[in-house]
Amino acid sequence: MIEEDNWRERVRVTRGDITGLRVDAIVNAANETLLGGGGVDGAIHRSAGPGLLEECRRLHGCATGKAVITSAYRLPAHFIIHTVGPVWRGGSRDEDALLASCYHNTLELAKIHGVRTLAFPAISTGAYGFPRRRAAGIAVRAVQEFLEKDKTLEEVIFVCHDDENCAIYRELLGTW
Ligand code: AR6
Repeated sequence: MIEEDNWRERVRVTRGDITGLRVDAIVNAANETLLGGGGVDGAIHRSAGPGLLEECRRLHGCATGKAVITSAYRLPAHFIIHTVGPVWRGGSRDEDALLASCYHNTLELAKIHGVRTLAFPAISTGAYGFPRRRAAGIAVRAVQEFLEKDKTLEEVIFVCHDDENCAIYRELLGTW
Protein backbone atom coordinates (compact mmCIF):
# COMPACT_ATOMS: atom_id res chain seq x y z
CA MET A 1 0.00 0.00 0.00
CA ILE A 2 1.30 3.48 -0.87
CA GLU A 3 1.56 5.69 2.20
CA GLU A 4 -0.62 8.75 1.97
CA ASP A 5 1.43 11.94 1.81
CA ASN A 6 0.43 14.60 4.29
CA TRP A 7 1.28 17.95 2.74
CA ARG A 8 0.93 19.65 6.16
CA GLU A 9 4.03 17.84 7.37
CA ARG A 10 6.03 19.78 4.78
CA VAL A 11 4.72 23.19 5.87
CA ARG A 12 5.96 25.27 8.77
CA VAL A 13 5.12 28.71 10.19
CA THR A 14 7.82 30.82 11.78
CA ARG A 15 8.02 34.36 13.10
CA GLY A 16 10.92 36.60 12.18
CA ASP A 17 13.07 38.03 9.43
CA ILE A 18 13.16 36.06 6.18
CA THR A 19 16.62 37.38 5.22
CA GLY A 20 18.36 35.26 7.86
CA LEU A 21 16.95 31.91 6.76
CA ARG A 22 19.32 29.20 5.56
CA VAL A 23 17.02 27.70 2.95
CA ASP A 24 17.42 26.98 -0.76
CA ALA A 25 15.28 29.97 -1.73
CA ILE A 26 13.51 32.87 -0.10
CA VAL A 27 10.70 34.76 -1.78
CA ASN A 28 10.70 38.52 -2.17
CA ALA A 29 7.48 40.56 -2.29
CA ALA A 30 8.82 42.91 -4.94
CA ASN A 31 7.28 45.59 -7.17
CA GLU A 32 7.12 45.60 -10.98
CA THR A 33 10.41 47.50 -11.35
CA LEU A 34 12.36 44.90 -9.32
CA LEU A 35 14.58 47.77 -8.23
CA GLY A 36 13.88 47.53 -4.51
CA GLY A 37 11.58 49.32 -2.12
CA GLY A 38 10.50 49.13 1.52
CA GLY A 39 9.25 46.24 3.65
CA VAL A 40 10.63 42.80 2.96
CA ASP A 41 11.99 43.96 -0.42
CA GLY A 42 14.08 46.65 1.28
CA ALA A 43 15.33 44.21 3.91
CA ILE A 44 16.35 41.67 1.25
CA HIS A 45 18.22 44.23 -0.87
CA ARG A 46 20.01 45.66 2.17
CA SER A 47 21.17 42.26 3.35
CA ALA A 48 21.99 40.82 -0.07
CA GLY A 49 24.11 43.81 -1.10
CA PRO A 50 24.53 45.70 -4.39
CA GLY A 51 25.06 42.62 -6.56
CA LEU A 52 21.36 41.87 -6.25
CA LEU A 53 20.31 45.27 -7.61
CA GLU A 54 22.71 44.86 -10.52
CA GLU A 55 21.21 41.50 -11.45
CA CYS A 56 17.66 42.84 -11.01
CA ARG A 57 18.36 45.73 -13.37
CA ARG A 58 19.20 43.26 -16.11
CA LEU A 59 15.77 41.59 -15.74
CA HIS A 60 13.84 44.71 -16.80
CA GLY A 61 10.96 44.27 -14.39
CA CYS A 62 8.34 41.66 -13.64
CA ALA A 63 4.56 41.79 -14.19
CA THR A 64 2.12 41.46 -11.30
CA GLY A 65 1.43 37.79 -10.57
CA LYS A 66 4.66 36.59 -12.22
CA ALA A 67 7.97 35.50 -10.67
CA VAL A 68 11.68 35.66 -11.53
CA ILE A 69 14.73 34.12 -9.88
CA THR A 70 18.14 35.57 -8.97
CA SER A 71 21.14 34.64 -6.90
CA ALA A 72 20.99 35.53 -3.21
CA TYR A 73 24.44 37.19 -2.93
CA ARG A 74 25.29 37.81 0.76
CA LEU A 75 22.21 36.04 2.09
CA PRO A 76 22.48 32.52 3.49
CA ALA A 77 19.88 31.30 0.95
CA HIS A 78 20.97 30.15 -2.53
CA PHE A 79 18.27 31.91 -4.54
CA ILE A 80 15.76 34.71 -4.27
CA ILE A 81 12.49 34.31 -6.13
CA HIS A 82 10.99 37.74 -6.70
CA THR A 83 7.27 37.89 -7.23
CA VAL A 84 5.01 40.91 -7.56
CA GLY A 85 1.80 40.77 -5.59
CA PRO A 86 -1.29 42.77 -6.50
CA VAL A 87 -2.12 46.08 -4.84
CA TRP A 88 -5.41 45.61 -2.96
CA ARG A 89 -8.10 47.75 -4.61
CA GLY A 90 -11.18 46.40 -2.89
CA GLY A 91 -11.21 42.89 -4.36
CA SER A 92 -12.84 43.41 -7.75
CA ARG A 93 -9.64 43.84 -9.78
CA ASP A 94 -8.67 40.18 -9.90
CA GLU A 95 -6.57 40.54 -6.76
CA ASP A 96 -7.29 37.01 -5.46
CA ALA A 97 -6.31 35.33 -8.73
CA LEU A 98 -3.21 37.49 -9.10
CA LEU A 99 -2.07 36.67 -5.58
CA ALA A 100 -2.67 32.96 -6.19
CA SER A 101 -0.62 33.17 -9.37
CA CYS A 102 2.28 34.71 -7.40
CA TYR A 103 2.35 31.56 -5.26
CA HIS A 104 1.86 29.15 -8.18
CA ASN A 105 4.50 30.79 -10.38
CA THR A 106 6.98 30.95 -7.50
CA LEU A 107 6.46 27.28 -6.68
CA GLU A 108 6.89 26.25 -10.33
CA LEU A 109 10.09 28.29 -10.62
CA ALA A 110 11.38 26.76 -7.39
CA LYS A 111 10.74 23.28 -8.74
CA ILE A 112 12.54 24.04 -12.03
CA HIS A 113 15.61 25.12 -10.03
CA GLY A 114 15.64 22.07 -7.78
CA VAL A 115 14.67 24.03 -4.67
CA ARG A 116 13.83 21.77 -1.75
CA THR A 117 13.33 24.32 1.00
CA LEU A 118 11.45 27.55 0.29
CA ALA A 119 10.40 30.46 2.52
CA PHE A 120 7.52 32.84 1.72
CA PRO A 121 6.71 36.19 3.31
CA ALA A 122 3.04 37.23 3.43
CA ILE A 123 2.99 38.71 -0.09
CA SER A 124 0.89 41.88 -0.61
CA THR A 125 -0.14 42.20 3.05
CA GLY A 126 2.11 45.17 3.88
CA ALA A 127 2.38 48.22 1.64
CA TYR A 128 0.01 46.64 -0.91
CA GLY A 129 -2.80 46.40 1.66
CA PHE A 130 -4.24 42.94 0.93
CA PRO A 131 -6.44 41.76 3.84
CA ARG A 132 -4.27 39.41 5.87
CA ARG A 133 -6.61 36.52 6.49
CA ARG A 134 -7.79 36.46 2.91
CA ALA A 135 -4.19 36.53 1.67
CA ALA A 136 -3.14 33.75 4.05
CA GLY A 137 -6.02 31.56 2.85
CA ILE A 138 -4.90 32.02 -0.75
CA ALA A 139 -1.27 31.29 0.19
CA VAL A 140 -2.08 28.11 2.10
CA ARG A 141 -4.42 26.81 -0.62
CA ALA A 142 -1.85 27.40 -3.37
CA VAL A 143 0.89 25.65 -1.39
CA GLN A 144 -1.41 22.75 -0.55
CA GLU A 145 -2.37 22.29 -4.22
CA PHE A 146 1.27 22.30 -5.23
CA LEU A 147 2.58 19.98 -2.52
CA GLU A 148 -0.16 17.47 -3.14
CA LYS A 149 1.06 16.93 -6.69
CA ASP A 150 4.77 17.66 -6.29
CA LYS A 151 7.23 15.73 -4.17
CA THR A 152 10.45 17.67 -4.83
CA LEU A 153 9.73 20.41 -2.30
CA GLU A 154 10.58 19.14 1.15
CA GLU A 155 9.69 22.17 3.20
CA VAL A 156 7.71 25.36 2.69
CA ILE A 157 8.04 27.96 5.44
CA PHE A 158 5.58 30.81 5.91
CA VAL A 159 7.62 33.56 7.53
CA CYS A 160 5.52 36.01 9.51
CA HIS A 161 6.93 39.30 10.60
CA ASP A 162 4.42 39.76 13.40
CA ASP A 163 2.33 37.76 15.85
CA GLU A 164 -0.99 38.47 14.18
CA ASN A 165 0.06 36.95 10.88
CA CYS A 166 1.61 33.98 12.69
CA ALA A 167 -1.66 33.36 14.48
CA ILE A 168 -3.62 33.50 11.22
CA TYR A 169 -1.35 31.00 9.47
CA ARG A 170 -1.22 28.65 12.46
CA GLU A 171 -4.97 28.67 12.71
CA LEU A 172 -5.39 27.93 9.00
CA LEU A 173 -2.85 25.13 9.13
CA GLY A 174 -4.09 23.75 12.43
CA THR A 175 -0.59 23.87 13.91
CA TRP A 176 -1.18 25.52 17.26
N1 AR6 B 1 10.89 39.22 6.80
C1 AR6 B 1 9.66 38.68 6.65
N2 AR6 B 1 8.53 39.38 6.43
C2 AR6 B 1 8.67 40.73 6.38
C3 AR6 B 1 9.90 41.39 6.53
C4 AR6 B 1 11.06 40.58 6.75
N3 AR6 B 1 12.28 41.10 6.90
N4 AR6 B 1 9.70 42.73 6.44
C5 AR6 B 1 8.38 42.91 6.24
N5 AR6 B 1 7.75 41.71 6.22
P1 AR6 B 1 5.62 44.36 2.21
P2 AR6 B 1 3.85 44.05 -0.12
C6 AR6 B 1 6.32 41.40 6.02
O1 AR6 B 1 5.16 45.75 2.43
O2 AR6 B 1 2.65 44.32 0.71
C7 AR6 B 1 7.84 47.17 -1.13
O3 AR6 B 1 8.17 48.51 -1.04
C8 AR6 B 1 5.32 42.50 6.29
O4 AR6 B 1 5.04 42.58 7.67
O5 AR6 B 1 7.06 44.06 2.32
O6 AR6 B 1 3.82 42.89 -1.09
C9 AR6 B 1 7.99 46.61 -2.54
O7 AR6 B 1 9.05 47.19 -3.23
C10 AR6 B 1 4.12 42.02 5.49
O8 AR6 B 1 3.37 41.07 6.24
O9 AR6 B 1 5.19 43.82 0.72
C11 AR6 B 1 6.68 46.93 -3.15
O10 AR6 B 1 6.64 48.23 -3.64
C12 AR6 B 1 4.76 41.28 4.32
O11 AR6 B 1 6.14 41.12 4.64
C13 AR6 B 1 5.70 46.79 -2.01
O12 AR6 B 1 6.46 47.03 -0.83
C14 AR6 B 1 4.66 42.01 2.99
O13 AR6 B 1 4.80 43.42 3.19
C15 AR6 B 1 5.14 45.40 -1.91
O14 AR6 B 1 4.15 45.38 -0.92
